[in-house]
Amino acid sequence: MAKEKAAVVGLGYVGIPLSALLASKGYDVIAVDVLDGKVDDVNAGRLPLKGHEPGLGKLLSKVVKSGSLRATTSYADLRDRTAIFICVDTPIDANNCPDNSRLEDALRGVGMNLRKGAMVVVESTLAPGTMLGTAAPTLARESGLELGKGFKLAHCPERVMPGRLLYNITHYDRVVGAHDKTTAKRAMAIYSKITRGKLHPTDLVTAEIVKTAENAYRDVQIAFANEVALISEKLGADAYEVRRLVNTCPFRDMHLPGAGVGGHCLPKDPWLLAQSGMAANPKLIPTARAVNDSMPFHMLDLAHEAARAAGKAVEDSVVVVMGASFLQDSGDTRNSPSVPVAESLAGSRELRVHDPFVQEIAGVTVAHDVQSALAGADLAIFMVAHREYQQLTPGKIKKLMRTPVVVDGRNLFSAEKMHRAGVTYRGIGKRIIS
Ligand SMILES: NC(=O)c1ccc[n+]([C@@H]2O[C@H](COP(=O)([O-])OP(=O)(O)OC[C@H]3O[C@@H](n4cnc5c(N)ncnc54)[C@H](O)[C@@H]3O)[C@@H](O)[C@H]2O)c1
Repeated sequence: MAKEKAAVVGLGYVGIPLSALLASKGYDVIAVDVLDGKVDDVNAGRLPLKGHEPGLGKLLSKVVKSGSLRATTSYADLRDRTAIFICVDTPIDANNCPDNSRLEDALRGVGMNLRKGAMVVVESTLAPGTMLGTAAPTLARESGLELGKGFKLAHCPERVMPGRLLYNITHYDRVVGAHDKTTAKRAMAIYSKITRGKLHPTDLVTAEIVKTAENAYRDVQIAFANEVALISEKLGADAYEVRRLVNTCPFRDMHLPGAGVGGHCLPKDPWLLAQSGMAANPKLIPTARAVNDSMPFHMLDLAHEAARAAGKAVEDSVVVVMGASFLQDSGDTRNSPSVPVAESLAGSRELRVHDPFVQEIAGVTVAHDVQSALAGADLAIFMVAHREYQQLTPGKIKKLMRTPVVVDGRNLFSAEKMHRAGVTYRGIGKRIIS
């Protein structure tokens, strides 16, 4: 078969590295997005993502310069494409139900311009049942082609993570769900060029369940760690020491607790799975979501308690939220646990938010200098383990702050060292030292 002419729809955390990698492996790639700004950035060889993304900026500018990748807002440009990868965002709505509006728009745009024999691969994460229930009929209706004979369909959910986009795509195994065996082979021929990981062919609905289950599994594991952290705090133990010792037992892999779970994926993928499986009355997955969603509010409880212990009220304090993104060294603020924390602290005497990569959250302009963010503050709430925060010492914090009170949601500091330095310290899963 002649070399596929590739297209990528959706220029985000998934679509950008995929486009750049395909182009770097000799494919001619057209990328489509609805946002002019992203299309302009990509065509100028500029990476429209914030945070550390090793290697990606360079790769993007190289493939754009060489002419193997170009971006557009026009779906009509896809008419000669033979392999089209859909990477649009697939969020949930206010009732935790799948919001497929962007996916359906993308499917319509692709369907209207689909040539006979083309293969459509959906990389977006989907509520199980969406490939055959929505993708196949939409593409068939819009193109006038029949699934199987007229066009081919595959689902190869992505496993990237901000901060490791290129690494994950090029190293991780991939599950390749396909409508038939020949399509699986055809999709795998392309993926084998971009990953050294193994490729696992399967059917469409299995691939959908695998992706949502792997994230739901992680969410449940984090919720378990969070619950053990809450219990440890009440019993005066250190949850990190508990975890270390639990993991000395073979076949245990207890996760880290923390200030909350964010990002585009983990807070919604468990719901995509649970909502598709409502007939099975899932209980564990929704409960884990509730536990993880409660963690930012637990941070606030710790903040009030710590301020009281230092003889202050949060309302009268200069408060600084350290970290606005959902993940260390990333600028991704989607579903960030820092948002409910900052919103709840709006009534404090002064609210500051610091993050090296973010401009604004919850209506607050974000500061970029750590020292001035902490200077003169009465309460610092560490929500994210950014590299810069890992370099702070208890002594430095004590010196900078007016009332040295720290709440640590990411195990950045030792409770003992903070106490010795004269900082009032509370942390998720931490023992109180007084
Ligand atoms: N971000 C991650 O780390 C990650 C990891 C694994 C899987 N996923 C999944 O991959 C999918 C994409 O996630 P993302 O983080 O890249 O999202 P994103 O929001 O960063 O990017 C999506 C892009 O799609 C564009 N878009 C929306 N509707 C469009 C349309 N009709 N036509 C063309 N472009 C359109 C948006 O403008 C945006 O640029 C989601 O289903 C997500 O769950 C994401």
